[in-house]
Amino acid sequence: MVRVVIATPLEPELVDRLRRVDDRLDIAFEPELLPPPRYPSDHVGELDFERTPDQEQRFAELIADAEVVLGFPRESPRRLAWLVRHAPKLRFLQCMYAGAGQQIRAAELTDDELGRIAFASGSGVHATPLAEWSLFGILALTKDLPRLLRDKSARRWDHYPVDELPGKTLLVVGLGEIGREVARLGEAFGMHVTGVRRSETHRIPELVRDADAIVVALPLTDETRGLIDRETIAAMREGAIFVNVGRGAVIDEEALIDALGSRKLRGAALDVFAEEPLPKSSPLWELDNVIISPHTAALSVKENERIVELFAENLRRYLAGGELISRVRTNVFY
Ligand SMILES: NC(=O)c1ccc[n+]([C@@H]2O[C@H](COP(=O)([O-])OP(=O)(O)OC[C@H]3O[C@@H](n4cnc5c(N)ncnc54)[C@H](OP(=O)(O)O)[C@@H]3O)[C@@H](O)[C@H]2O)c1
Repeated sequence: MVRVVIATPLEPELVDRLRRVDDRLDIAFEPELLPPPRYPSDHVGELDFERTPDQEQRFAELIADAEVVLGFPRESPRRLAWLVRHAPKLRFLQCMYAGAGQQIRAAELTDDELGRIAFASGSGVHATPLAEWSLFGILALTKDLPRLLRDKSARRWDHYPVDELPGKTLLVVGLGEIGREVARLGEAFGMHVTGVRRSETHRIPELVRDADAIVVALPLTDETRGLIDRETIAAMREGAIFVNVGRGAVIDEEALIDALGSRKLRGAALDVFAEEPLPKSSPLWELDNVIISPHTAALSVKENERIVELFAENLRRYLAGGELISRVRTNVFY
């Protein structure tokens, strides 16, 4: 039997779905040891939740026997390191986030631990909501939502033409699960879509010149940190729309703020920031051509269902000795 511990809050019917995956799975789920979710598909749970010493002991015992774990407590590198040290039998950890590589790196696990455990990220789980949000940002800025809101509050009835998407060029930087879905939706809107993978990073400065809209859906790695630098932003087309749903530190945020403030860029829709929560002093709050969402664009009521689907498939593969979907490469941490 393979002992599987669910270390994240989950709906009982989804736990049952996992129990039906294979008779060889022995699935442990003790919700009273986990922080109660604040909203559907919340993996962090009530922030003031703390286990009693007794519960902490029970949780440690549960983890000690685990060969497979879903989620890690409170999704922090510190708690991930704790979990790995308390789970000597752990072989496979299914993470809930696409960006889990960064937390794994920050947990500073030993080479032995990285070699012993296969980590799978939640890559793909957020593709639909983030691609929708990216197109929402492009549409909102193309149709000048900020002006519509201003005019509405002033009860102003003004006539003016608005732009449209067919024939416009969309550049998708990062053609993973999210980027590919952005590309698919962009094509459905009649946009001419180009995209960049890891091997094509060098083409970004050239491709941004021709892009009317740019969507960044990159992981944060040593290679991508600061990749969209001041020079790249300066090379962007006048009036381009910029969207970031990957990670904030991939962008030179100051240079972006300058380009938005001077109206070189038409506007930006940002879900991720160099520092989160976005500091109250950030000029981004003041810019009316910027749409801000507090790293919530991926949150969806369907998230747990999608994660369970991915985990169920990975459990089948794990039992069959096959390759896991979205296994984190621990040399590049994504
Ligand atoms: N806003 C949110 O709440 C939220 C939610 C989920 C994910 N995210 C972020 O979005 C990222 C992407 O998610 P995903 O599910 O699409 O990941 P994914 O499927 O792993 O795809 C990552 C993509 O980025 C490309 N890439 C990596 N390094 C690159 C580089 N230096 N230059 C150009 N392209 C590079 C990869 O290229 P190859 O195809 O060549 O490997 C791949 O196409 C995550 O890592 C996470 O940080 C944010």
